Amino acid sequence: MLTEASKKLMRLGGGRSTVALRDWTIADFWTREQELRQPSYSLEPASSLVNDHAKPNAPADGSMRSLTKIGDNMTTIIDCRPPIGTPDLKAIKAKQQVAWSSGDYAIVGVTIQIVGERLAEAMDLRSGQKVLDVAAGNGNFTLAAARRWCDVTSTDYVDNLLQRGCQRAEAEGFPVTFQKADAEDLPFTDASFDAVASTFGGMFSPDQGRTASEMLRVCRSGGRIGLANWTPDGFIGQMFKTIGKHLPPPAGVKSPALWGTLEWIEKTFRAEASSLVAEPRYFVFRYRSAQHFVDVFRQYYGPMLKAFEALDATGREVLTQDIIELIGRLNRSGDGTMVVPSEYLEVVVTRR
Ligand SMILES: C[S@@+](CC[C@H](N)C(=O)[O-])C[C@H]1O[C@@H](n2cnc3c(N)ncnc32)[C@H](O)[C@@H]1O
Repeated sequence: MLTEASKKLMRLGGGRSTVALRDWTIADFWTREQELRQPSYSLEPASSLVNDHAKPNAPADGSMRSLTKIGDNMTTIIDCRPPIGTPDLKAIKAKQQVAWSSGDYAIVGVTIQIVGERLAEAMDLRSGQKVLDVAAGNGNFTLAAARRWCDVTSTDYVDNLLQRGCQRAEAEGFPVTFQKADAEDLPFTDASFDAVASTFGGMFSPDQGRTASEMLRVCRSGGRIGLANWTPDGFIGQMFKTIGKHLPPPAGVKSPALWGTLEWIEKTFRAEASSLVAEPRYFVFRYRSAQHFVDVFRQYYGPMLKAFEALDATGREVLTQDIIELIGRLNRSGDGTMVVPSEYLEVVVTRR
């Protein structure tokens, strides 16, 4: 039976309190799938109402437990953790946006240009087509489509990256429209594009289903949707998992790596597709050394930069060594430089 005090607690917060999200972690980008845990109720001896949030041995996830006296020597613990499985996707997205705005992703973006070129070919783009690049960064796929004389709109939620894309288009003399847009809420009317694509972009939005349905919505019937998504077991998939070991993920957010699995792609796009082709591909990361890769990513790649910022000096050192070890396992250079193939899933959906 609940006491008046615990009933009051339940009324106030449904038995739970709103717990502020931790400061930014890489886990906000890349989480493993977690089992949904139900709030637990258990009995423990105690004598007063306490909040152990601020104690040294408080739960690492910042959650609160309230111990409520229900008898002379019996206490019920009301678990005040936020309901797992209902993460605050808006708050997570806001943090991600800050992270992608930090560093300078453009430095990394230009190195993976070949992915956009390959995807443009796989989609069999035709000159004059209206093409949308979603979460375009500094214009990887944008430039590939513009070079095929398409009428391209390049979108991202980071202003600075759109500017960097604009500089590239200007330098090459292609007229491209750059527009700030959230992948989960595209500001375009239904069926307004012949082709819609995202290279390693849409996969990072926290509301995965919403981003996918927005891409489908703005693509006309018979048009094409193209995706390049890192797979869970490829180098970048493993790198994010490695980082996730140092900064445990918040519960309830789906892993972006799902976009790199055939199962999820089938489940999400098949019903709206007249054809769906998915091929594993490799992008090869070529750097001066493993340490050079870490240095570049730590300085320019927002999520990595923020991960390092969140760790103390020892944590940073161990993380560096873990990434270097991962690269060592996959490196096929044989000469001290870094040559690491990273698997991704290339997808072309023809819209029904
Ligand atoms: C790894 S970068 C990829 C950029 C580019 N497509 C490329 O291939 O180089 C991820 C990009 O997704 C963007 N992004 C992530 N979530 C987004 C969202 N919800 N709406 C718009 N852009 C988003 C980031 O700002 C970043 O530019």
